[in-house]
Amino acid sequence: MKNFFLAFTLIFSVLLSSACVDKGGTNNNGSTGDGAGDIKVGVYGDTTGATSSFGLSTKNGIQLAFDEINAAGGVNGRKLQMIFEDDQGTPEKAKTVISKLISQDKVVAVLGEVASSNSLAAAPVAQEAKIPMITPSSTNPKVTEVGDYISRVCFIDPFQGSVMAKFAANTLKAKTAAILGDNSSDYSKGLTQFFEQEFTKLGGTVITKQTYAQKDQDFKAQLTQMRDQKPDVIYVPGYYGEVGIIARQARELGMNQPLLGGDGWDSPELWKLGGAALKPAYISNHYSADNPAPEIQNFVKAYQAKFNTAPDSLAALAYDSAKVLADAIKRAGGTDSAKLKDAINQTKNFAGVTGTITLDASRNAVKSAVVLELNPAASKFDFKETIYPEGMTAPTTTPNTNAMTNTMSNANAMTNIIGNHGRGQ
Ligand code: PHE
Repeated sequence: MKNFFLAFTLIFSVLLSSACVDKGGTNNNGSTGDGAGDIKVGVYGDTTGATSSFGLSTKNGIQLAFDEINAAGGVNGRKLQMIFEDDQGTPEKAKTVISKLISQDKVVAVLGEVASSNSLAAAPVAQEAKIPMITPSSTNPKVTEVGDYISRVCFIDPFQGSVMAKFAANTLKAKTAAILGDNSSDYSKGLTQFFEQEFTKLGGTVITKQTYAQKDQDFKAQLTQMRDQKPDVIYVPGYYGEVGIIARQARELGMNQPLLGGDGWDSPELWKLGGAALKPAYISNHYSADNPAPEIQNFVKAYQAKFNTAPDSLAALAYDSAKVLADAIKRAGGTDSAKLKDAINQTKNFAGVTGTITLDASRNAVKSAVVLELNPAASKFDFKETIYPEGMTAPTTTPNTNAMTNTMSNANAMTNIIGNHGRGQ
């Protein structure tokens, strides 16, 4: 009898709990997932710190995507609502604000951060709470290694570092390079390693590696050491705030080599900080606002009209992350966190403004990168070329954007597609 009663209680409670999940869609953090009303999405980033343009662009990109989705009726008839938190660009604050978004605001998913060190600090909180987090733009490989609730819509730095190493060796014919990296950033440390690996593989030599810390203002000691070794190119895998000053100080010291960088340079602030010193210079990045493809130009126009400024790659990636999330909520049939996580991780061939997004088994997007040439006179980045990862070729669906495309393959079986977007040809 006692056993019967125990078994009955057990079965009853199992039934009860599964009924609750099915009906209420209650997430383990207590938020109502599949209920009615707005769908709350947490967004966190730096809008007041050393990398504030990253957070501002991210917030704008997501707002534009949500506005478009809501104007078209929302997701499964529900509106998307952004709850934004400023983390001032520090890992400690990033961790605090993501905890607040999850436990207090009961968001169903989180979009952010930009800087890899901040995403790395916050991701364990999302993973622990089982709330999906999509970083639009953190490229360090370690970020998604935190767990299956963490994904990204951008490529990762082994690819980004190799793109610039190939550009240096193959296009600029550089034999030697110096690296000036930000020792306080996981992003910069990763790119330093990945660039060096590829550049060495291609027969080049990294003759000196120097470092600085975020918020430093004087880089002359490191630069002077480099100057004496006469590298063909200088790779500076940092964020725009320091990069602009580094460019000026390098030129003041009479160093006229090409400066090379990554996506971290992308900010409208860069031109004010670096001015004419930002030439010759090239970066790898996620997209080019000059790409004439209609999907991209429609996005650029809509963003420009709403925020009165051109969308940088942060804005474009954020826009894509919001659209990927909305698409996943639709496919998951709601916001139950486990189902939503699975739907996000199954994202395949999603047509974003930053390229076609397919998440691999490690929840990283496998995508093309662009090389951009800095044009300080016009305060803009000019499109140079699109680089596709191994096994991926240029899309054939938009032949006009790639008319006059040359294909050349090189040592590492990566395909370089040199297109003519943005060149007005
Ligand atoms: N990829 C950078 C990081 O991981 C962030 C970034 C992306 C900055 C795109 C600018 C543009 O830290």
